[in-house]
Amino acid sequence: MRFDIVTLFPEIFSGYLSQSLLAKAIDRGLVQVHIHDLRKWSTDLKHHKIDDRPYGGGPGMLICVEPVVNCVEAIQAMDPTPGVVVLTTPQGDRLNQRRVEQLSQINRMILLCGRYEGFDQRVIDILNPMELSIGDYVLNGGEVASMVIVDSTVRMIPGVLGDEQSSLDDSFSRGNRILEFPQYTRPPEFRGCAVPEILLSGDHAKIAKWREQQSVEKTMLRRSDLLRNPAED
Ligand code: ADE
Repeated sequence: MRFDIVTLFPEIFSGYLSQSLLAKAIDRGLVQVHIHDLRKWSTDLKHHKIDDRPYGGGPGMLICVEPVVNCVEAIQAMDPTPGVVVLTTPQGDRLNQRRVEQLSQINRMILLCGRYEGFDQRVIDILNPMELSIGDYVLNGGEVASMVIVDSTVRMIPGVLGDEQSSLDDSFSRGNRILEFPQYTRPPEFRGCAVPEILLSGDHAKIAKWREQQSVEKTMLRRSDLLRNPAED
């Protein structure tokens, strides 16, 4: 899967892309991530400005239509698959695991990271992007949201996780709408807190039942909304 990320702050991504699972997925050729500095498409050759004041007044600055559309068209031409354009914004559809699974089926995603007060509306009218929000709060920019989208999508690509099973076991994966049971490792006791006896019993049927019970109880207590019909989401 290929990701193209359009940002005004390309350096934000370097640490994230060079670590752990994502770095390995890139190394193994399962994922490609290309970062594009929007400023390079500025029409202002002197100061590389890409934003301007909104018509009609109001606070803050907007990202101009011209550099964004030119940049996305140039990126689309870099690969025979034009890709799905995704714009990160608090006004978008809320990201959830179902959407992540859909996104992981796409071969190519072009992510636009917003900043300031957002984009000139014509960016949306012309490029017709999928608008996605990662939650009902406002970030300083779309870079962190883009990382969330890449991170959650990449782990669904076959071969990315060491153990294929582990993404299927995730709390929200493929119809799983239940929280994870508590897990323990050594030592068996620490500061008076002991590992539940049953986990040391070696009785796998009983352990499976206990874990199921723990998951259900935790979900009812913390996220009873998950037990509703998924079609309602
Ligand atoms: N940009 C600013 N806030 C955001 C959010 N909650 N989700 C996606 N992009 C954003």
